[in-house]
Amino acid sequence: MKGLYNNDSAYGLVTRANHWLSAILVIGLIGLGIYMTGLPDSPDKFELYDVHKALGIGVLGLIILRLIWLKLSPNPPILPAKRWEEVLAHSVRGLLYLSLLIMPFSGWAMSSAGGHEVSFFGLFTLPALVPESEAIGDVAKTVHAFVGNILFPALILLHIAGALKHHFIYKDNTLKRMLGRD
Ligand code: HEM
Repeated sequence: MKGLYNNDSAYGLVTRANHWLSAILVIGLIGLGIYMTGLPDSPDKFELYDVHKALGIGVLGLIILRLIWLKLSPNPPILPAKRWEEVLAHSVRGLLYLSLLIMPFSGWAMSSAGGHEVSFFGLFTLPALVPESEAIGDVAKTVHAFVGNILFPALILLHIAGALKHHFIYKDNTLKRMLGRD
């Protein structure tokens, strides 16, 4: 039975739970985001927006906890691969963390700029992040759409490809240790 903390070679339960929960939420949010924006305006569409916003705030909570946990219990190092693959793995990981912050903040800014509330499933409402403004709303929307439709999916595909290459070609513990099966 592994502990809660990471060590030099393994991920603890806290990091693994955070990783897989974030993965499910982000992939679901990208799908939901693309689906809901394509719907004609209706009360159902805007209910989906509320669900999207609440789940997106959940992702923000998870990435904040992840960054705090990273300080308390650092990740084990990336396992050896070709030099360019290690550089790519580090860059993709950094950009994934960045996207995990950019998406919720741009979504929150877009909602506040449009004068819409951001409620976490009716439990609490976030304060407005920015004043109401069409210009701020347009920038936030462009960022949200670019990262959500292009950058984030590309990073996720590279990240998955790297994990599969380690698993099937290098036959090391990269994937197994994130599954807790190392
Ligand atoms: C990791 C978190 C998130 C991901 C991956 C994500 C992803 C997406 C994607 C892919 C779209 C479709 C963009 C388009 O094609 O125009 C979208 C739309 C949208 N998202 Fe997010 N989102 C996240 C968090 C949030 C948060 C926290 C909020 C608000 C608090 C939010 C508010 C919105 C809104 C209002 C739209 C519709 C924009 C429009 O009507 O054009 N999102 N999201």
